[in-house]
Amino acid sequence: MDILLVGCGKMGGAMLRRWLDAMPARFTTVNRSGRALPPGTEHVSGADALDGRRFDAIIIAVKPQQIPDVLPDYTEFLAEGGCYVSIAAGFSAASISKVVGDKPVIRIMPNLPALIGRSVNGLYANSACGPAHRDLADQLAKTTGTAVWLDSEDELDRLTAVAGSGPGYVFEIARSYIAAAEDLGFSRETARALVLETIGGAIEMAARSEDDVAELRNSVMSKKGTTEAGINALRRDGLLDALLKDTTRAAYDRAVELR
Ligand SMILES: NC(=O)c1ccc[n+]([C@@H]2O[C@H](COP(=O)([O-])OP(=O)(O)OC[C@H]3O[C@@H](n4cnc5c(N)ncnc54)[C@H](OP(=O)(O)O)[C@@H]3O)[C@@H](O)[C@H]2O)c1
Repeated sequence: MDILLVGCGKMGGAMLRRWLDAMPARFTTVNRSGRALPPGTEHVSGADALDGRRFDAIIIAVKPQQIPDVLPDYTEFLAEGGCYVSIAAGFSAASISKVVGDKPVIRIMPNLPALIGRSVNGLYANSACGPAHRDLADQLAKTTGTAVWLDSEDELDRLTAVAGSGPGYVFEIARSYIAAAEDLGFSRETARALVLETIGGAIEMAARSEDDVAELRNSVMSKKGTTEAGINALRRDGLLDALLKDTTRAAYDRAVELR
């Protein structure tokens, strides 16, 4: 199987590393800027270098706003029976069809832990896709993490707001938590280690537990103890709940704008 990857930045690059390790396919990557890419993929500088080639899948990994300008240069290289796979946030399969015509289009919404094989991937296939296209996308997703098939693009946009953008929220929360630890007198290095180990340990424990996370929270709060004092401050006036609702809603609204 021959696969063309158009766009190999942070997300395309993270996924490519996993695909090269795990998939029995040949990858060709459009790499305009000549950045260092993992060995095992053929690099080309643009569409001109692909004369006469045909690919079973063309993966679109440029920014959503760039798709209408970039994709028309590559449509002639899709093999008969091939499919487009887009990892772009928001930009709908219908909008991709406006550029490529009535072709099979699958959207995979990954997140950055694809780098370590822990991406949460949402998948959506348009009606032109058959079982072979869905199998390929399933394999592309599962070599980078998990695969959750969705019936509508609206669901995919909601998944984007929770999981696709989610690592960014977690990094921002961790940054703020580290700053708070520094404020209590720890060095930056110690604060980072304490916070990341605490978050990592707590999340892994929650993932392994059958208990609801609210029950886990209650299990570490003793009456008039230190955790209760901290949690009372964290939950003051429901600000945290409101903030996270606003956060995911803003990301969803942006995905809808990008459709
Ligand atoms: N980052 C995330 O966490 C994340 C999560 C989910 C989905 N996504 C989606 O992944 C896509 C890529 O995001 P990213 O964060 O990886 O962005 P990025 O790091 O900026 O990468 C974009 C890539 O597009 C390439 N590109 C731009 N114009 C091109 C052209 N005319 N021909 C060929 N390649 C071109 C760039 O190549 P040059 O460097 O050579 O210009 C760059 O490698 C986006 O659609 C985004 O919505 C990202």
